[in-house]
Amino acid sequence: PLTDLADGFGRAVSYLRLSVTDRCDLRCVYCMSEHMTFLAKVEVLTLEELDRIASAFIGLGVRKLRITGGEPLVRKGVMELIENLARHLKSGRLDELTLTTNGTRLTEFAPRLAGAGVRRINVSLDTLKPALFRTLTRGGDLAKVLAGIDAAQAAGLKVKINAVALARDNAAELPELIRWAHGRDLDLTLIETMPMGEIEADRTDQYLPLSTVRGELESYWTLSDLPDSTGGPSRYVRVAETGGRLGFITPLSHNFCESCNRVRLTCTGTLHTCLGQEDATDLRAVLRAGGSDADLVQAIRHGVAGKPRGHDFVITRSAGPSVSRHMSTTGG
Ligand code: GTP
Ligand code: 5AD
Ligand code: SF4
Repeated sequence: PLTDLADGFGRAVSYLRLSVTDRCDLRCVYCMSEHMTFLAKVEVLTLEELDRIASAFIGLGVRKLRITGGEPLVRKGVMELIENLARHLKSGRLDELTLTTNGTRLTEFAPRLAGAGVRRINVSLDTLKPALFRTLTRGGDLAKVLAGIDAAQAAGLKVKINAVALARDNAAELPELIRWAHGRDLDLTLIETMPMGEIEADRTDQYLPLSTVRGELESYWTLSDLPDSTGGPSRYVRVAETGGRLGFITPLSHNFCESCNRVRLTCTGTLHTCLGQEDATDLRAVLRAGGSDADLVQAIRHGVAGKPRGHDFVITRSAGPSVSRHMSTTGG
């Protein structure tokens, strides 16, 4: 059909991750380098450009839209963008409009997000220890994020916690983090650290395979597999003892590319069809050259058609990052 965005491997793309800024009010050590430079404003898509591209994807069959960053809530006007994009929920063209955030500004934004039609959000949180949180985020205040999560739940948003598993930092704390989340009716997903962009730390020291974590958890908890419900890369289990849902995102230890349904748009309008490859299509150039909607659709189709089979992430000492861009400029 006309509205099917398919790649060369027969995968249909139904999920767009839209990065609205490369900036962030935190500097997580596994995500950013200490000396990140941020994009100049002219580089970044305007709210109108973001809306136009996202809407073109929705016209082509994207059913799920996730707003990311950097930290999306630091982008000026992000709520207007979200409220405008919500028209596609009302028209029935979009199933879900969601957000991935570090949570620092949720006390301010949660009610408005819920009002706009956002039903669930993902909040990144790797530790419940204030001092470790400060170290991992290079200066962040844990209390703000916890207050943000409370505000989100109070506003009626379903919240999933994302925690990157880090061998040296939070490995021992993971069971406690899971218990805490499940005790508050929060899903929690563990993520393997991915070799994206130069950072100061050696990712070989940080990397913790989730197959190992799962094995350890299973020595005292009963985990039973659940069917996929979000259309994301996470594989979920139910923990019998806590009653909660636990997800695993395992790009390194168990690649899930063959069922990938996602593409990403950076805040500069570059379409990346794989998180772990350098392939890129410049959609901003189409817009800023005065391209028509048909030109935009053609560029999108062409980019999606070239979606690589999968990533080639490897984490070995001295290998360096598999892709040069950081997660924060790619849109998680
Ligand atoms: P839901 O399933 O809708 O809750 O979303 P999600 O888990 O896909 O989104 P979220 O923003 O919470 O992403 C969590 C982590 O999964 C981020 O670190 C993403 O970079 C990572 N992730 C999402 N999609 C992919 C993918 O296609 N490949 C890889 N390797 N990682 C991904
Ligand atoms: N590897 C894995 N996850 C990362 N994130 C940021 N950088 C990396 C990385 N290199 C995570 C954040 C957030 C999500 C959007 O991506 O912690 O949960
Ligand atoms: Fe910001 Fe998220 Fe990167 Fe942390 S992981 S620096 S919160 S974009």
